[in-house]
Amino acid sequence: MEFMLRAMRILTGLQPSGKLHVGNFFGAMEPAVRLQDEGEAFYFIADYHAMTSSQDPAALRENVRELAIDFLACGLDPARAVFFRQSAVPEVNELAWLLSTVCPMSLLAKCHSYKDKIAQGVAANHGLFAYPVLMAADILLYDSNKVPVGKDQKQHLEVTRDLAVKFNETYGADTVVLPEPIIREDTAIVIGLDGRKMSKSYQNTLPLFGEEKPLKKLVMKITTDSTPVESSKPVAGSTILALYKLFASPADYAAMVADHERGGVGYGDFKKRLADAYWDFFAPMRVRRAEILADPGYVDRVLASGAERAREEASKVLTRVRRAVGLV
Ligand code: ADP
Ligand code: TRP
Repeated sequence: MEFMLRAMRILTGLQPSGKLHVGNFFGAMEPAVRLQDEGEAFYFIADYHAMTSSQDPAALRENVRELAIDFLACGLDPARAVFFRQSAVPEVNELAWLLSTVCPMSLLAKCHSYKDKIAQGVAANHGLFAYPVLMAADILLYDSNKVPVGKDQKQHLEVTRDLAVKFNETYGADTVVLPEPIIREDTAIVIGLDGRKMSKSYQNTLPLFGEEKPLKKLVMKITTDSTPVESSKPVAGSTILALYKLFASPADYAAMVADHERGGVGYGDFKKRLADAYWDFFAPMRVRRAEILADPGYVDRVLASGAERAREEASKVLTRVRRAVGLV
């Protein structure tokens, strides 16, 4: 009953794993910012999770801070969303333990992300193997109703739902809330400078923030074919157009398509238009970022008050769960 009376809770986590790029913006930040209006948003920085693939204390601190600054600059509004560090609510580890006692090994052994990481050469540590259990705890600890994630996280959400069902079967219906995934499908995939999916592992990204000259120079690196200036140029499969569409107005985009079809404009020109549109698109976020940086205590204050709010919620759920399992 308790959860029927409150607003829909939307929860997602982002790993602090380096500089944000345009793919992260359109694939994760922008949808999260939009969802702030749909319910009660809980957004966190998954710092415990990041430690499964990199153990570098200075980098972790730096990446957490950068992600917090950038997410706030992109429009996360701490007045509407509860924004916190995963590790600021260590209770999540207790729930992860409780869930792990009903989690079959086979459920984790079949997870693609574990197998992929091992194939990439990441050490097969227990944290990496148990990653989906901690993720389930992240979700269930806040009675989350909706969990927006990229397609790569679909299987982790299935594990979460399996564990929630198993937990409720074992300890009583309504011990935990069964969450629904919101999966962003492939249509939202942003392509990178080389035409593949934009990803930091391919080094083909356009960062969100940085200095104007080097960023605009990156646009000039986009791979194109060798169609002469005067000829018409292919519209389908054009990396320039795919990226321009994200940043330009419909009219400007239509004009660039027409210029491709007509011929007479070279790729250098198109790239310049793209570089300008990209730079202008992020102008308000850069302004916001500068404001955030000008107030050195701001980020810490936001994360501290988010953590307090998140902990309050976590302790309610954990009390219910501890009672159900017989710990109290
Ligand atoms: P990367 O591929 O650069 O390592 P991550 O896996 O850390 O990026 O992605 C973080 C979030 O950003 C995920 O929600 C993912 O779905 C989204 N994302 C990353 N790259 C893209 C892209 N090219 N297009 C759309 N969304 C993306
Ligand atoms: N595993 C997610 C990713 O790499 C991050 C994450 C951790 C998460 N815990 C979560 C996402 C809980 C949604 C809900 O993108």
